[in-house]
Amino acid sequence: MGQNIVEKILATHLLKGKIVPGEEIAIRIDQTLTQDATGTMAYLQFEAMEMPRVKTELSVSYVDHNTLQTGFENMDDHRFLQSIAAKYGIYYSRPGNGICHQVHLERFGAPGKTLLGADSHTPTGGAMGMIAIGAGGLDVAVAMAGGPFYLTMPQIIKVHLTGRLSPWVSAKDVILELLRIMTVKGGLGKMIEYGGPGVKSLAVPERATIANMGAELGITTSIFPSDAVTRDFLHAQGRGEIWQELEADENASYDGRLEINLEKIEPLAAKPHMPDHIAKITDIGPIKVDQVLIGSCTNSSYKDLMTVAAILKGKKIHPAVHAGIAPGSKQVLEMLARNGALADLISSGARILECTCGFCIGMGQAPNSGAVSLRTNNRNFLGRSGTCDAQVYLTSPETAAASALTGVLTDPRTLGESISLPMPSRFLLDDSMIIPPSPENQAGNIIRGPNIKPLPLKKEMPGALQGMTLIKTGDNVTTDDIMPAGANILPLRSNIPALSRFVFSRIDDTFALRAKEAGGGVIVGGFNYGQGSSREHAALAHMYLRVCAIIAKSFARIHKANLINFGILPLTFDNPEDYGRIDQDDLIGIPNLRAQLSQTNKLWVHNQTKQTKFLVTHDLSSRQIGIIRAGGLLNYTKIQAEL
Ligand code: F3S
Repeated sequence: MGQNIVEKILATHLLKGKIVPGEEIAIRIDQTLTQDATGTMAYLQFEAMEMPRVKTELSVSYVDHNTLQTGFENMDDHRFLQSIAAKYGIYYSRPGNGICHQVHLERFGAPGKTLLGADSHTPTGGAMGMIAIGAGGLDVAVAMAGGPFYLTMPQIIKVHLTGRLSPWVSAKDVILELLRIMTVKGGLGKMIEYGGPGVKSLAVPERATIANMGAELGITTSIFPSDAVTRDFLHAQGRGEIWQELEADENASYDGRLEINLEKIEPLAAKPHMPDHIAKITDIGPIKVDQVLIGSCTNSSYKDLMTVAAILKGKKIHPAVHAGIAPGSKQVLEMLARNGALADLISSGARILECTCGFCIGMGQAPNSGAVSLRTNNRNFLGRSGTCDAQVYLTSPETAAASALTGVLTDPRTLGESISLPMPSRFLLDDSMIIPPSPENQAGNIIRGPNIKPLPLKKEMPGALQGMTLIKTGDNVTTDDIMPAGANILPLRSNIPALSRFVFSRIDDTFALRAKEAGGGVIVGGFNYGQGSSREHAALAHMYLRVCAIIAKSFARIHKANLINFGILPLTFDNPEDYGRIDQDDLIGIPNLRAQLSQTNKLWVHNQTKQTKFLVTHDLSSRQIGIIRAGGLLNYTKIQAEL
């Protein structure tokens, strides 16, 4: 039997387990990346492991999220990150150099390698033929220390692409079509391997857009073949020597298959407030648009912005529209500046924003109240824009640019004759904003400003579980809902006591206070609890508030892994209807939990307020039970090292 691409890479990286869906496997990680919002905590955790240097082939610390400098906090974090990178053998990408996934693709991604990133859109690297997975910072810290990354082996779904995209239809529409088919819940326990003749028509940045937003499907990751298109991209980035061919064998097998004819895809949008609320632009109709924002790790490549510049060239943004464009990297911005496209963008009346996450993470560009905002990024969760009643639509750069000109949602196919923009044969190469690590033993001290607070620690798990139901949430609660971002909250990512005050603040601003007064408790959730970004702070702040368990109908992958890493028990209702029989403030308990965990995967929960009982299940491996009992992965790792 032949091998698919995933199996080929895993064959050289598998450390434990069998490549069978549902089995826990451990893999060797070649590369890691962090961004500043997750990185400070990841490096505090790495420090706690007392390793002299990282053991990965390559680790990069990016600064792209918290770049506003309205107070000392963000710069404190940047200084800390730079000093820790120098000391521990990590490359440091300075603020302004670009968004982690865009820069990583340009300068570091390599076919056949494994990449673990403390950011949920790390799978963007799959465009390059690597297994690139998003995880919590603690998992990344363990990988930097040379430890394996554990995951449940997903099903491998082949998405067979045929045909070519029609003029003005783009890669963004391909992934929106997949979101229409699979929904945000459809990818749990799966990964996607793209193949078929249609792949060859997609440039690496287009593949990156598709792989990037696979995160919204809930899949573990996506991967494309490494072919002549990949080779040419790497060559143009001055890194042609690292190319290797990676194709699935003809008789490779998969756990599922989906056919997509690229020719049949039309311009689409994700309507408010979920990335899978998909509709055709033509069906939504010409609604009035107040804001257009183009950029983010999904759509800010050279190809994307050259297309936008060609659309806007010689024209003016509609007077009722506020338009902003954030290039994905310094490389993109500088190339646009040198070839004149930047002048076309400026002349159109668009505001040129920094090469950062910016508007995508709620750092500026909040729209007016009640606004319709068209954005090219990957998430349109309620309130993420910074304006609670804004209506955010996710579209392609082509749709966004066309709409910026007309002031209404516009099908880009009305722009007339298509434009053809070949990929450059040579990108502008200047790595001066990527600081290599200092030689061993020559790094200075780690700089810790007052915003860098010590890592919170947890004690080992008690014998029984007992606690108040602190909150009961609905389905599809996001990590944005649990631990909001935004300009006043993000700078506190290295200060958990201050950050924890904002847990669930968008849903119930009394939560943190109640949790503190109750001395912790449990949370009840619906389906897909914790979808969205990889932010481990959503679990870490729960740990700080002494939340000991979450009982939900189902969990999103990364958040569940983060809960386990911080010693919080993820339990699933055996009968989802029992969700309706528990209320906020109910006192619940699981007697003899510690002993029971390894004996059975079904546990009785006693609702002491209602005098009822219901069954919950867990699917923890014996390693994960060890982590929960130890009070989290950090404690577990120390215990293992002492054995
Ligand atoms: Fe940044 Fe938004 Fe991507 S926060 S990493 S641009 S999803």
